[in-house]
Amino acid sequence: MLINSVRTLDELREVLRNPKATGPENAYWVFSQLGHKKWENMTITTPGLYDTEFPKTYGHYHSSSDEVEIYKLISGQGVFLLQKKHIENGKPVYDLVDEVFLVGAEPGDEIVVKPEYGHSWSNVGSTPLITYDNWRYGHVPQDYEPIRDLQGMAYYLISDSKGIELVPNPKYRNHPKPKWLTAKEFMQLFD
Ligand SMILES: [Fe+2]
Repeated sequence: MLINSVRTLDELREVLRNPKATGPENAYWVFSQLGHKKWENMTITTPGLYDTEFPKTYGHYHSSSDEVEIYKLISGQGVFLLQKKHIENGKPVYDLVDEVFLVGAEPGDEIVVKPEYGHSWSNVGSTPLITYDNWRYGHVPQDYEPIRDLQGMAYYLISDSKGIELVPNPKYRNHPKPKWLTAKEFMQLFD
């Protein structure tokens, strides 16, 4: 197993609601070449808060393959945000999204990501969030650039007294009403 990368708070700032937030110094670690038939990478995301925002993975699209990606939540309590890329005249228009899903995931849940969906995990629990995925095609800068340029995904997951508040990211021109689903409900949509 290789440690592939550590995403520090300083690197994550550009996609946080408040880029000056304080919180855990390292947001998440990615380990690769797990030596497992199905799973290629493991991501561990810190618990805690960046000001009021839950720690999260940076968010990305996939450019290097049209294969689906499968995630499995191993430990912790996660919310998986998926947003569908908007296409006009065959080209993506990244500050518009066609739909937004928020999947509340529990250990054991598997979630399949279709190629047109950008995605990011938030750790909404009090323990590390551990996920496996099977992505073997690597990443190119344009997987991350649209998310960087828009300062994150279409919504921020913010901790409030009731639990999780969704705050629209003002850099997007539209904000489809997010659909909250369990992993099972999400998977049934594509059956
Ligand atoms: Fe991915």
